[in-house]
Amino acid sequence: MTESATEVRGLPLGAFMAGAAVSVSLGVYGSVHEASEEGPFQLFFSGSTQLKVWFTTVAVILAVVQLMTALRMYGRISFPAVTPPWFGDLHRLSGTTAFIFTLPVAYICLWTFGFNGGASDARTLIHSVLGCLFYGALAAKIFVIRKKSGPAWALPVLGGTVFTILIGLFLTSAVWFWSDSGFPSF
Ligand code: HEM
Repeated sequence: MTESATEVRGLPLGAFMAGAAVSVSLGVYGSVHEASEEGPFQLFFSGSTQLKVWFTTVAVILAVVQLMTALRMYGRISFPAVTPPWFGDLHRLSGTTAFIFTLPVAYICLWTFGFNGGASDARTLIHSVLGCLFYGALAAKIFVIRKKSGPAWALPVLGGTVFTILIGLFLTSAVWFWSDSGFPSF
């Protein structure tokens, strides 16, 4: 069945709507939710902030693996010389695992602080906005993947956007925390 031109043209709008719905819902929840001011769990870390900082770091390392496999599969880089047949699986597995590592982090952020945590500094506001945009961009990417269609630029652009937002989240939280409190602290 050939894709109608309307379907191809409509897909970016559908992806945008899906992403916007997720981002706005997180922002609204974060704004109306009464911040608990204490982390709901911390596993084996000394505190929920340390848990978030390390889980975010693991998510970023996995996202870099996902980016490198994508760049090789799209022929943007030439290492390794021959693309291993399992690179597609590694791309999906690293991306899915990175996403899973962000979930408890975002849950603790929203539960403990809500949106912006009542702070007045630009870093926390930028971080909170990026946090909501991250899941919106991810929802848009999954929308495009599941449609198995659409303009050739949609997936690389959305993949790059998700990666860039995650790096922004990392810089405005884990990297800030370490520069403020010292590295490493478990
Ligand atoms: C879903 C929306 C999100 C909101 C509203 C949000 C909000 C916040 C706020 C208000 C803080 C406290 C900032 C401070 O006082 O220092 C914080 C801390 C933190 N957030 Fe988020 N966040 C979100 C998502 C995320 C995501 C997706 C990640 C990582 C993938 C993340 C990683 C962190 C880390 C590591 C900290 C602790 C370091 C710090 O205190 O800055 N957040 N978040």
